[in-house]
Amino acid sequence: MSIVKLAPSILAADFARLGQQVVDAAKGGADRIHVDVMDGHFVPNLSMGAVVVESLRQITHLPLEIHLMISDPDFFLEEFAAAGSDSFLVHWEGNNNLHRTVQRIRALGRRAGVAINPATSATVLEEIVQDVDQVLVMTVNPGFGHQQFVRTTLPKIGRVRELIERRQPACEVEVDGGIDTTTAPLVVRAGATVLVAGSAIFGDRRAVGTAMNALRMALNNTERDTEPAEWSGPQRSQ
Ligand code: DX5
Ligand code: ZN
Repeated sequence: MSIVKLAPSILAADFARLGQQVVDAAKGGADRIHVDVMDGHFVPNLSMGAVVVESLRQITHLPLEIHLMISDPDFFLEEFAAAGSDSFLVHWEGNNNLHRTVQRIRALGRRAGVAINPATSATVLEEIVQDVDQVLVMTVNPGFGHQQFVRTTLPKIGRVRELIERRQPACEVEVDGGIDTTTAPLVVRAGATVLVAGSAIFGDRRAVGTAMNALRMALNNTERDTEPAEWSGPQRSQ
């Protein structure tokens, strides 16, 4: 059995049955629940606010991970923390004071993670990775579920993994977008340890637990490449 963690994204859930779907995901062995928050500015879509977290907090003990795809994350941290959030993923893009945002998350006693979009280089993490618990590599452009996996992000996952092993080995490498039974083995081989999946779990015609098992089965016998073809190993000069 793989040690890779699964973080079902409720963006793909049936909102009329949200509580039951999260309970089903917990029974299926979810490690955390991924909550996508969108403001219509940072990304061209709207999703949900802290009230959803407050309701979910009543029905699950699983960690609630909040992916903030919003223009001013600092403004909403306290509200989401009070609602019962356990961790925050904030984007590098558009944040002029990322370190301050991370400090604020820490001051609230929550886990902090930094997300990078497909067009953003892994090198931007150099000066922040030592301060975070997670890095989220977006494997689609943020804003919508059900999108196609962006394959060019694969070598970047390897570069993020290398950076983390060098600077902050306890940090998790998480991926988000287009993860299914085909792409899951690829991202794990590249170095991911936490997989966010929306449509592959809640959008599957089968039961939530069955879909989660299918993802896990796809990972059987998948071991991380120590040196992916696209990645030439640690840079001795740094
Ligand atoms: C996209 C969100 C993802 C989304 C993934 O902006 O951050 O978490 O729910 O959905 P799938 O797994 O359907 O690509
Ligand atoms: Zn997300």
